Amino acid sequence: MSFNYQHWLIGLMCLTLNFSANAQGDAEIGKSKTMACMGCHGPTGNSFVPNFPALAGQPASYIAKQIQDFKEASRQNTTMTGIALSISETDAHHIGAFYEFQVKTPAMKNIAHLKTDAQKTALLTLGKKLYDHGNADTGQAACFVCHGSNGDALVDLGVPVLANQHPQYLINTLKDFKNRKRTNDDERVMRRIVDTMTDEQIEAVSYYSSYLVPTLEEKKQ
Ligand code: HEC
Ligand code: HEC
Repeated sequence: MSFNYQHWLIGLMCLTLNFSANAQGDAEIGKSKTMACMGCHGPTGNSFVPNFPALAGQPASYIAKQIQDFKEASRQNTTMTGIALSISETDAHHIGAFYEFQVKTPAMKNIAHLKTDAQKTALLTLGKKLYDHGNADTGQAACFVCHGSNGDALVDLGVPVLANQHPQYLINTLKDFKNRKRTNDDERVMRRIVDTMTDEQIEAVSYYSSYLVPTLEEKKQ
């Protein structure tokens, strides 16, 4: 069964415009609520641990949604569920507003487990192919359609930024979509995609996405 991504995007646009009109966070208030987050996500949302996602530069609406989803357990993580339960819905929007305008610094992209340069090149080449063109054999959609050709996503639509994110985190969360530990993607948009992918393809596309350079300057003016 084919999935109409254009319709999906229009639907998402309506939902998100509605959502942001109702909930504008205040970055200053948000900053004051992030003391408890710094230890893992870093003072400006740039974490130093490969399993802890960077939050800098993520759309505010995406961050607020994730906090809500941890509370509702459509996204499961022992640490984050406990933390999310202590954040009010209003504060989640303030926190999101703070992180959205933090500049994301390059993540650690250690692919040292691949022994040769040829293996690394092969991995990134496969990742680029899947990211830019999808996979006609399996019906996997191209990632750039929603996450942007530079990995900087359609920020205003609440699609997460992948560029400069820790590859290990991207691999973990894509596998969570696959094994249904994470089921918070509206219309099963990510589950439909990862269900068609092998672990090797997930790894390739995660490294490739992480290497993309976001155009943050534009957003910050
Ligand atoms: C003890 C470490 C720790 C602390 C403290 C912590 N987090 Fe997290 N956070 C994590 C981990 C680990 C994940 C990834 C969870 C997963 O894999 O699903 C995460 C994920 C997230 C995500 C989802 C990011 C994405 O790209 O989808 C958000 C949003 C988030 N945390 C916000 C916060 C906020 C806000 C605070 C402070 C109020 C906070 N976290 C404190 C460890 C932590
Ligand atoms: C039709 C749009 C669409 C396409 C195509 C798409 N994504 Fe997504 N992706 C999303 C949306 C929307 C979310 C946010 C889901 C949620 O609400 O948690 C997401 C979430 C993610 C996340 C979680 C990010 C985080 O910070 O936790 C990763 C990783 C991801 N996508 C990677 C990919 C990759 C790799 C591809 C291509 C193989 C892809 N996506 C294709 C829309 C899309």
